[in-house]
Amino acid sequence: MSDGPLDEETLAKYREAGSVLRQVLDEAVEKVEPGVTHLEVAEFAEARIEELADGCAFPVNISIDEEASHATPGRDDETEFDDGMVCLDCGVHVDGYIADAAVTVDLSGNPELVEAAEEALDAALDAVAPGVETGVVGGEIEDVIRGYGYTPVLNLSGHGVAQWDAHTGPTIPNRGTDRGVELEVGDVVAIEPFATTGRGKVTEGSKEEIYSLERDRSVRNRSARKVLEQVKEEYRTLPFAARWLDEPRAEMAITRLEQQGVLHGYPVLKEDDGELVSQAEHTVVVTEDGYENLTA
Ligand code: CO
Repeated sequence: MSDGPLDEETLAKYREAGSVLRQVLDEAVEKVEPGVTHLEVAEFAEARIEELADGCAFPVNISIDEEASHATPGRDDETEFDDGMVCLDCGVHVDGYIADAAVTVDLSGNPELVEAAEEALDAALDAVAPGVETGVVGGEIEDVIRGYGYTPVLNLSGHGVAQWDAHTGPTIPNRGTDRGVELEVGDVVAIEPFATTGRGKVTEGSKEEIYSLERDRSVRNRSARKVLEQVKEEYRTLPFAARWLDEPRAEMAITRLEQQGVLHGYPVLKEDDGELVSQAEHTVVVTEDGYENLTA
């Protein structure tokens, strides 16, 4: 996957993205409490990221209870934090180089579910080194989570990141498998165990607030064209939130662009049985000695 060790300039950008992300995630966690809206926390974190780095690598994900990923508040969303299991997943880029990390804030009274994901992440990181197969890393995750009596979310996985690409190879499964690939020096990977009280499978819900550019092509409709221009100019190939768009009737334009294959939508992913999901995530660079945690 990788082209060998990262050059110093690239590594410096990844490190900056990682340290901004750590700071913003810590600040955002402090704001998560009953009565505060999801939108307030998302907008706070996104504004801090814009202020301290080049931009968000994707919209702040706020997933509650059975939601596992791809949930972000809509433009006028007034949903407040209550007594849920809150996964907060943020991404930062510096010149397109991405750091991706997540924490779970438990307002639901299930601290062990959070511990399971965090401990699984620690075990996975302990295994990371060049030459180690991704399925072995996944096995560490699975063992810890099952040891707690929970199930890893089996159809979500960690992933590589690259410049302007928030989701690339290699895949880091959340289960043991012998079909992995060997990690290589210079790989930059986001490792993200999800633990659930359910059977460990997520499916797409109906809600969709996050999109990315799939295929650039000329569009006739004026409103759709303005949306496309903003996406190409500001977000390029990175995922963005519908609420970020300046166009007043963006929703209709988005539907149109999705139908034409210009935009790709990411429906919210939910645990199949409606059971709770927790998440922990760091982005690391694989080095000769093992790894460097960018988001520690
Ligand atoms: Co993430």
